[in-house]
Amino acid sequence: MFVPGLIERKRDGGALAAGEWRELLTAYQAGAVPDYQISALLMACFLRGLTREETAGLLDGMMASGSRLEFGGLGRPVVDKHSTGGVGDKVSLILAPLVAACGVAVPMMSGRGLGHTGGTLDKLESIPGFRTDLSLEQTRAQVERIGCAMIGQTPEIAPVDKKLYALRDVTATVECVPLIAASIMSKKLAEGLNGLVLDVKQGSGAFITDAERSLTLAKTMIELGQDRGCPTVALLTAMDRPLGRACGNALEAEEAIMGLRGEGPEDLREVTLAEAVEMLVLAGEKDRAEARRRLDDALASGKAAEAFQRVIEAQGGNPAVVDDPALLPQAEAVEVYYATATGTIARVEPRLIGRAVVEMGGGRRTVEDAVDPTVGFVITARPGQQVHQSEPLASIFAKDAEGIELGRKALDQAIEIGDADGRRTPPLPLVQARVTARGVEELTGR
Ligand code: URA
Repeated sequence: MFVPGLIERKRDGGALAAGEWRELLTAYQAGAVPDYQISALLMACFLRGLTREETAGLLDGMMASGSRLEFGGLGRPVVDKHSTGGVGDKVSLILAPLVAACGVAVPMMSGRGLGHTGGTLDKLESIPGFRTDLSLEQTRAQVERIGCAMIGQTPEIAPVDKKLYALRDVTATVECVPLIAASIMSKKLAEGLNGLVLDVKQGSGAFITDAERSLTLAKTMIELGQDRGCPTVALLTAMDRPLGRACGNALEAEEAIMGLRGEGPEDLREVTLAEAVEMLVLAGEKDRAEARRRLDDALASGKAAEAFQRVIEAQGGNPAVVDDPALLPQAEAVEVYYATATGTIARVEPRLIGRAVVEMGGGRRTVEDAVDPTVGFVITARPGQQVHQSEPLASIFAKDAEGIELGRKALDQAIEIGDADGRRTPPLPLVQARVTARGVEELTGR
C-alpha cells in the first residue's frame, strides 16, 4: 500500500475504496503507518468530505480493529442510545436504568467530557466508588445478570477509532460529519445492539451548531446503523439552553437521581421519556402510549431507581446515594446568583456555561487533568421567564472564592436579560423532530 498515493487521491477529490480503508486502518493500528500521514489524510477528508461508500468503509475498518459484544441467548432485546453531547445533558443516567427496569438490556457505552460538553462517565464517577472501566466480558456478564451496565470505551472496542480521535483532536479535524458519524457508530455497533436511539443536539450549545449539518449527521448515522442490521432512530433535541437545571458532574448526578424518583425538572423528564419511548419501541413495544405507561410506572413504583442502585452496586459505587444524594461530593463554596436587572430572560447560553464548568475544574483542558466533581451551577432561570432585579436565578458551586468569581462572571455573560418582550429568538422546541430511515417527522406541532 502506497500511502502518499491514497492521500493524494483524497486531496484531489477522489475516493478510497472500502478495501483500501480497511487495509490502511489495519496498518495504522499495527504501527506501520505514521501519524503524520494519517493526519494529512484526515485533513483531506475534512476538506473534501467522504462519499457514502467511503464512510461505510471507514466504519467497517474501525469496527474490524476490535471486538464486539455478543448477547446470544439473552432472551431480551438489547438497545442503547447515544447523545451528540451538550450542557446539562444527564439523560443517560436516568435512561439506562429506566429502560432496563422495563425489561430491555442496556449495555450503555458513554464518553467523557469533550470541549464545553459534559460526559456521562465523569458524572457517573462522581458517585463514590463507581467504576466505568469494565472489560467487555465483565460488561456482558453484568448485562446478563442485572440487565444494564454503564461503561466507557473499552480497549477492545474499535481501538483504531481511539487513535484516530486523539489525532483529530489535535489536528482540527473533529467537526467533520462523516468522520464523526463513523467514529460514533464504530463504538455503538460493536455493542451487538438490536436498536439504537440517537439524541442529536441542536442549537448553540451543540457540537455542530448548524441545523442542516446536524440533520445530515443524524441521517448518516441512521444509514450506517440500518445497513448493518441495527434499526436506528434519531431525535433532534434542543441545546440552545442547558438541559435541566444542574450543570457539573455531581450536581447532574443528583438531578438525575431526582429524575429517577419521578422528580426534577420537566424538560429533563420530557427528553428522557421521549428517548425511552423510542428505545422501548425498538425493543418491540408496538404501542407508544403503552410504552409511556410502562415508563411512568417504572418511575412511580421506584423500579427505575432500584435498577440504578443495582448498577451502582455492581460497579463498585455506593448505592445509598440514590436514597441520600447528600452522600455525593459537595462543593466547598456556594453562592447564590441574583438577577442584575428586571426584564425577561432572553437567553441562557449553554456554551458559556459549559466552558465555565471546565474552567472551574469540572472538565479537562488536557487529557491528564483531574476533574473536580463538585463544581458547577444550578440554574433556575429559563428563557422567556419574567424576572425582577435581585431575584435569585442560579447557584454557583466552586472549590474556592476564585471559582465563585469565575462562575459569577460566566453567568453575567450567559444569562441575558432583555426588556419586557426582550426575547430575541424563541427557544428551540425541546424535541423537534424524529428522524428514521423513512424520513423526518416534525414533532413541534404536537
Ligand atoms: N464523539 C465520538 O465518539 N466521535 C466523534 O468523532 C465525535 C464525538
